[in-house]
Amino acid sequence: MNKPQKICVIGGSGYVGLITGLGLSEIGHEVVNVDIDRARVDQLNAGKSPIYESGIDVVLRRNLHNGRLRFSTDLQSSVKNSQVVFVTVGTPSLKNGQIDLSQIIEVANQISSGLNEYKIIVIKSTIPVGTIELIKSILNEKAQQDCFDIVSNPEFLREGNALKDFFFPDRIVLGGDSDKAFSILRYIYKPIINREVSIKGIQNISKETDPVPVIQTDIASAQIIKYASNAFLATRISFINEISGICEQVNADIKEVANGMGYDSRIGHSYLEAGLGFGGPCLEKDLRALINTVDQDKYQTDLLQAVLDKNDRQVASVVNKVEKLLDTNLYNRTIAVLGLTFKPETNDIRNSLAIRVTNELHKRGAVVQSYDPVVNNEILSVDPNLKPCDSAYSAAQGADVLLILTGWKDFLHLDYKQIYSNMSNPAIVDSRNLLVQSDMIELGFKYVGMGASR
Ligand code: UGA
Repeated sequence: MNKPQKICVIGGSGYVGLITGLGLSEIGHEVVNVDIDRARVDQLNAGKSPIYESGIDVVLRRNLHNGRLRFSTDLQSSVKNSQVVFVTVGTPSLKNGQIDLSQIIEVANQISSGLNEYKIIVIKSTIPVGTIELIKSILNEKAQQDCFDIVSNPEFLREGNALKDFFFPDRIVLGGDSDKAFSILRYIYKPIINREVSIKGIQNISKETDPVPVIQTDIASAQIIKYASNAFLATRISFINEISGICEQVNADIKEVANGMGYDSRIGHSYLEAGLGFGGPCLEKDLRALINTVDQDKYQTDLLQAVLDKNDRQVASVVNKVEKLLDTNLYNRTIAVLGLTFKPETNDIRNSLAIRVTNELHKRGAVVQSYDPVVNNEILSVDPNLKPCDSAYSAAQGADVLLILTGWKDFLHLDYKQIYSNMSNPAIVDSRNLLVQSDMIELGFKYVGMGASR
């Protein structure tokens, strides 16, 4: 790295902001992460991450210690002292599926007062096409002419793999109309583009040796690349869940089917795990936003809607499997639920389908005893009916069914003999096809997975 850039990351204690700030400081830049959440800012300045992510605390402490990273609540002066401002604030869904832009509009208003000299505003938040024009107009109200350029630089971070995805990306997308801004961003990302990053404890997951592809395009195309990528991943998941249902009808094993399909180099193996479906803060939200991008009277996005509908049906289909296995309704039956996060290796329960399943179990009168390896007290605020247990074994105590909802690897290594003896009726519904059916049957369990998986 020649000369470090002075960078400010707004929304810096959130998921994307924190990873961005950590990543940019790790590759040599001077970064201040700004957030309105004072408690989180203090916690981060003390070297403790509020987010569960492999390797995060080591990178955080190293960059706090070497002085390249700090956290602040002072947006105005942080913007004034920076050359490049990354915007990573949240853009949650409203009830009608539209995106709540209030945070991004507020931030644009505040940035406009800090535009004392030329700056690049980099939008990492996923915002609908057209919103960047809105941000530009807000900035133009107070800023001098030519005082800023805007670049859309969508993120492709997966929770649980976010640092690896930041340092070893498949591609970097830059949307805008300024060559000057493009070249500064290429400079910022240079160590990543040239694959010069080597970080102890964070394994390079890419087998590529050529430079990381940088896609320079217009703003709308950059934004649609992000939305379409998430929509495509969601489509693969709903597709394999559809095939999984067909497998159940004809007694074919979905794991074998997905594996056999994946060897086709045009298809590949990823995002073909059949199960409860896609949860989390991104895929569903982005799919809905993409559908809302167009006027449905003029252009119907039936395929994308079908992907969402299929996903919604997965919750009921898993609860029905529990009922079918018990051969009775769920009133007063005890269900041991393993896994509450929306996927393994994260402590995030936002839009977790596991929580939707437990709600449905309650509606049908079941008693739910739950265990998750990382989520603890948070669950109480989500659903007071959930009885949190301190181990999988106590969750299984007296249960009629053990229901696996998140594919945590920890659940592979449980002592299922012990679980068997703790349960009043040893039966397992494995909505993530985590376990091997024959092993469970050998131990005496009744076992049902997804897609006749064996
Ligand atoms: C997703 C995208 O994968 C990232 O590239 C993107 O940057 C991010 O959204 C975002 O927009 O911020 P993430 O939400 O962390 O990342 O989750 P994924 O790992 O993609 O998983 C989403 C859901 O799909 C999880 O509930 C997971 O269990 C489920 N899934 C995933 C399946 O059911 N089957 C699969 O084969 C893969």
